[in-house]
Amino acid sequence: MATSKPRSKRADHILASPRATALRDCTCGELRAADAGREVSLCGWVNRQRDHGKIVFIDLRDRYGITQIVIDPDRLPKDSETLTKASEIRSEFTLLVRGVVAKRDPQTVNLNMETGEIEIIATDITLFNASKPVPFPITDTITSDESVRMKYRYLDIRRSAMRSRLELRHKIELYIRTYLDTRDFIEVETPILTKSTPEGARDYLVPSRVWPGQFYALPQAPQQFKQLLMVAGLDRYFQIARCFRDEDLRGDRQPEFTQLDLEMSFAAESDVMRLIETLLIEITQKFGNKKIQQIPFPHISFSDAMEQYGIDRPDLRFDLRLRSLGDLAQLGDFKVFKDAVNSGGMVKGLRLPGQAAMTRKEIDEVTEFARNLGAKGLISYAIQQDGAVKSPLTKAMTEPDLRKITDHMQGLPGDMIFFVADSEKVCNDVLWRLRIHMGEKLGLINHDEAAFCWVVDFPMFEIIEENGAQRYHAVHNPFSGVKHGHEQLFETDPLAAQARQYDIVMDGFEIGGGSIRIHKSETQKRVFQLLGLNDEQITEQFGHMLEAFDFGAPPHGGIALGIDRLVMLLAGAENIREVMAFPKNANAQDMLMRAPSLVDDVQLDELSLKVKLPQENSKK
Ligand code: AMO
Ligand code: AMP
Repeated sequence: MATSKPRSKRADHILASPRATALRDCTCGELRAADAGREVSLCGWVNRQRDHGKIVFIDLRDRYGITQIVIDPDRLPKDSETLTKASEIRSEFTLLVRGVVAKRDPQTVNLNMETGEIEIIATDITLFNASKPVPFPITDTITSDESVRMKYRYLDIRRSAMRSRLELRHKIELYIRTYLDTRDFIEVETPILTKSTPEGARDYLVPSRVWPGQFYALPQAPQQFKQLLMVAGLDRYFQIARCFRDEDLRGDRQPEFTQLDLEMSFAAESDVMRLIETLLIEITQKFGNKKIQQIPFPHISFSDAMEQYGIDRPDLRFDLRLRSLGDLAQLGDFKVFKDAVNSGGMVKGLRLPGQAAMTRKEIDEVTEFARNLGAKGLISYAIQQDGAVKSPLTKAMTEPDLRKITDHMQGLPGDMIFFVADSEKVCNDVLWRLRIHMGEKLGLINHDEAAFCWVVDFPMFEIIEENGAQRYHAVHNPFSGVKHGHEQLFETDPLAAQARQYDIVMDGFEIGGGSIRIHKSETQKRVFQLLGLNDEQITEQFGHMLEAFDFGAPPHGGIALGIDRLVMLLAGAENIREVMAFPKNANAQDMLMRAPSLVDDVQLDELSLKVKLPQENSKK
């Protein structure tokens, strides 16, 4: 910076700020009343400029805070141009300010600012750079459209809310690294250019120039490498790893995201779970401002989670539960219920304690909400103080029948129950969302609480439809181990076999999942066969894993935590984009760099690629 004067010699040894540089003595967040009289230089951005004609005030901002600068002609050298310069300065100009720290008059002290007791009486200002008018104000509350924030992310990150979330993320990652380092885990970087590994999403592919027609896949997770590191005898591995998944985006999903990925040898479920539970407790207590609802974390089986909450990631911050009606749905002659059961479905209800007095209008609103989620309707069931029931069911059922239903649903006088009759999938899909909706609406969710739980006892396999045919699919990934004694079920009833899998859930978000793995090649091969792979496919895709297992693979297991989701929840943010520096938008685009983008023909030729554009895409 040829134009800026060197820092004053005096400040060098007096202040010795750890953030002093060749251009500045200290930051905009650190001067206090005790510093009065010091000659300092500060650098930063103009947060606000107020021109009072004779005097100009500038709030100078950097990452560490804001300091008020006063440009007063009475206190400047006679022929100084500083006042003229200062009056031309606008928001977001970048400056070097030199001056003297002064205590503010008592009536102008600002107790809301850490530096509110002082101001800098400027002696000189150097302009590093001007700024165009910014597309949105650099303030904490922002109403600007998210696409504008994404396009100008570097301005968005100037806002203290964004910046402090990135700082929080850094601190959490640092804490994790130290926590694991002191427990003998070592961080190993695994390849980004690699081969497809199944985690349930589509791969991002990278064409090879050297091998025309061949592709690398970006890792959906470092799953196979970390298992190979266990075969390699590293005993305890971790990595803060970038993962890539081409899937539909949501508020808690991004095409690239970060996992804390770890693996340990000679370990059982309890070892991994204890390690992670302690880490999560420490991180939440240190960095979150939420109280943990229950320690140790409760364990809930997959089937109980599905029955009581309709989803395998229950939000336990509030206690509303679901319950299936079972055979009672057949009582009397209620067509909606009978039809659902007769076509292989079920009837399931959500009980809302104390809500029997809901008005017709309120019931209609809830019904509309459920319809929008895919329900054909809702049957309301209000239990009066005398135990009598107000419901469409009364037309088709006797009083003793209704009493059975009330008892089964654990209904009390004053309760309202909403029933959905449909396939199990629709009942659960509608009711878990309705449960959250009603929990929010009725103010039952305590936002100052963090509710963790472990979900366990997952099945190994589920049935999925593919190209019109049904086949087994791994509920998690195909490397999850099978519970002791369940391996025989592979031959008789694969759907009944349970995995040594555990998911960790926080406030209704799946923040992590892992398992004790298969470490025998015969078992791994059998799982691949059940998943529909033939011997040739198994060898081609996973031969290296089976081979590695045959060189004395130790029993091992691990987990991966979604760092973005964890930080989002600890920061109280609305979606994971708020805790990522440069996220993609909902269409998987980087609005700032404008990726993805077309490439020129020369590049395509080098890669031996020809692009076939769908009609509508070619115009974009
Ligand atoms: P899983 O697929 O469950 O397990 O991923 C682990 C955790 O990563 C987070 N996560 C995501 N976060 C943001 N955007 C996404 N698209 C996304 N996808 C997943 C979630 C999830 O719980 N290899 C196994 C781990 C293991 O078994 O050790 C795996 O990747 O918080
Ligand atoms: P309809 O026969 O569509 O007029 O519906 C009669 C009542 O049953 C309305 O209150 C609907 O909301 C409700 N209803 C219809 N289908 C279902 C269903 N599958 N599950 C729960 N309630 C339903």
